[in-house]
Amino acid sequence: MIILAIETSCDDTSIALFEDTQLLVMETKSQIKIHNQTGWVVPEVAAREHANSIFEVLATVLDSVDVSTLTHSSEHSWGEKMNLTDIDYIAVTVKPGLIPSLLTWITVAKTLWEMYSIPVIEIDHIQAHIFANYLEREEADIEYPLVCLTVSGGHNEIYYKKEMFSSEKIWETSDDSAGEAFDKVAKMMWLGYPGWPIISELAWVYAKNLWNIESTSPLFPRVWLKKTENDFSFSGLKSAVKREVDARWKLSDTDKQEIAYEFQNAVVEVLAYKLVQAWKNLGVKNIMLAWGVGANTLLREQIMKLSLENSLRFLYPKKLSYCMDNAAMIGIMAYYQIKNNQVNASIHS
Ligand code: KG4
Ligand code: ZN
Repeated sequence: MIILAIETSCDDTSIALFEDTQLLVMETKSQIKIHNQTGWVVPEVAAREHANSIFEVLATVLDSVDVSTLTHSSEHSWGEKMNLTDIDYIAVTVKPGLIPSLLTWITVAKTLWEMYSIPVIEIDHIQAHIFANYLEREEADIEYPLVCLTVSGGHNEIYYKKEMFSSEKIWETSDDSAGEAFDKVAKMMWLGYPGWPIISELAWVYAKNLWNIESTSPLFPRVWLKKTENDFSFSGLKSAVKREVDARWKLSDTDKQEIAYEFQNAVVEVLAYKLVQAWKNLGVKNIMLAWGVGANTLLREQIMKLSLENSLRFLYPKKLSYCMDNAAMIGIMAYYQIKNNQVNASIHS
């Protein structure tokens, strides 16, 4: 089964080709340089960039697969490139996301359906981020029930999953997501766009020199919400960082490193603790991490440490790029939907 997967919910134009669970190729065109000029993503600009890149990215992925090397290929000769007619299904993100960006590719997918009668499977972006954990992993490796922490620029939830296709949101943020806090703190310190990788980098430099620095109590509060509360909150932490940045007025390099380090610790400690707390409350087999902030090294390390202490199995996407917006997660989710007859409500054929 050949699946063409498309993801354009925000500012990445990403297309992937799958043969069953095997990712054959993925091409992602980032728009970061364009949005760097404004400091944020302007939806109409993002949509125009998607439209400009559409055929280039599609042609690149089709051209990079030699169809004669596919497991189920019989009537193809050596060196033959993939063609649209070789595709069995198109999987496309339909929600949530920036509407102008989404519309670009949904239109292309549905045009291909009209022209070549290729069924289109509509994929939910949030669930696909969770399915990123299936990439490069055996299906049987993921045991249910499990709890999954999903954290990005706009989302901060814990889902309880009884089986592959059920998802019950049990905890969520009562205000900002941790990713939003990363983005805003980066802006406060004028670290550029996107600022979150720089925060982690500065924090790492500070941590390396910690032996040299007198230990003090944490600079920022941990927002536990009384430790028993089920939800998250990061707007107070954002304000605390703002007060600190304003109080120091002119930030030295060491100030930036210290604030980044203290801020990252305050976020990561709460996220890791609450994920393990969810496991304790529900008695599940695995804990899982997904989405953009899931690429944060310190967060992965802290959850891993807590998992080892509690003899828990911790799963996270195999590659950092699978945490970001990418078409691979769309394709793998579509594959499992087709395999398990879960596409009834979302297929156009
Ligand atoms: O999944 P994604 O590319 O976009 C959404 O669907 O939201 O996630 C991007 C977000 C960024 O805005 C940032 O807040 C967060 O994920 N992020 C990180 C890291 N990498 C991405 N936050 C902290 N540390 C990271 N290493
Ligand atoms: Zn995303």
